[in-house]
Amino acid sequence: MSLPTKIANVDFEHCIFNASGPSCATLEELDIIGKSGAAAIMTKSCTLKPREGNPEPRYTGLPLGSINSMGLPNLGYKKYVEMVPLLKKHGKPVVMSVSGLCLADNIEMLRAINDTDADLVELNLSCPNVVGKPQIGYDFEQTDEVLTKVMKLVRKPLGVKLPPYFDFAHYKQIAELLNKHKVKFVTCINSIGNALYIDPDKEAPVIKPKGGFGGLGGKYVKPTALANVHKFAELLDPSIDIIGVGGINNGTDVFEFILAGAKAVQLGTVFQEEGPETFARIEKEFNELMKKKGYASIEEIRGKLKAL
Ligand SMILES: Cc1cc2nc3c(=O)[nH]c(=O)nc-3n(C[C@H](O)[C@H](O)[C@H](O)COP(=O)(O)O)c2cc1C
Repeated sequence: MSLPTKIANVDFEHCIFNASGPSCATLEELDIIGKSGAAAIMTKSCTLKPREGNPEPRYTGLPLGSINSMGLPNLGYKKYVEMVPLLKKHGKPVVMSVSGLCLADNIEMLRAINDTDADLVELNLSCPNVVGKPQIGYDFEQTDEVLTKVMKLVRKPLGVKLPPYFDFAHYKQIAELLNKHKVKFVTCINSIGNALYIDPDKEAPVIKPKGGFGGLGGKYVKPTALANVHKFAELLDPSIDIIGVGGINNGTDVFEFILAGAKAVQLGTVFQEEGPETFARIEKEFNELMKKKGYASIEEIRGKLKAL
């Protein structure tokens, strides 16, 4: 059984693929995702120029997830543009994640991506780990400006990767902007920024950059991610698809994200920790749960979270 879905009208064989970041920065890593059970191939967020990223240690698995402050290490957008034809050979959608350090960088990268065969573009407005660059998604004026400029030039279906929101007033403000600019999809959530995890033996943080402050992922963030998906499902125009990400570890987690309103989900920390087998495992668990509950399609349950 396969439960297909669509994001911005692009066909996905099923609803589970990789989140931008973990093990998706090189052609070798992306080929592994291409050969895995993932429904699509998502690239590491790229910048105009190649970046080394932050000093190590910058990622640590934790009892219930992960903390990272990678600082966007990537090969620079030109390399990912060159990789698109090679990645397309895997026969699944290719999603390019773009994370310019300024508006001009985003414009230059998106123009180049227009001329590729990439299927979707995810504009990352929410990286919490670049020193001196606050998350754009928390600055509504800047988000408005970025979207005004990029929506004019982009010819690919463009979605935005959002930071987690915590206040109903902020959900409303950002949703109004996303509706106004008619983005094609939203992906929520990025890691919860500026968490601090302490090793009591060493009496020190577990990662080095930013004095130990990093983005939290995994089980710690699932309830926040579900809340963001559900709130956006309520506030966004129904033409805008929602991709859920944050703390997905098994088929039941996927089911919950679809109930909250997601059309597809991404795996970050669990892929980093478990490797590429995680996609087929979680898809199988999700399919079995759907079958057990008597559901035959994602649309039968999407956004159908019951009220108490
Ligand atoms: C090591 C690592 C690197 C990441 N890099 C990126 C990135 O480049 N772009 C991005 O949009 N999100 C990035 N993220 C965030 C993930 O895509 C995801 O939103 C977050 O980890 C929550 O999902 P999870 O709980 O499944 O890990 C990164 C996460 C991790 C753990």
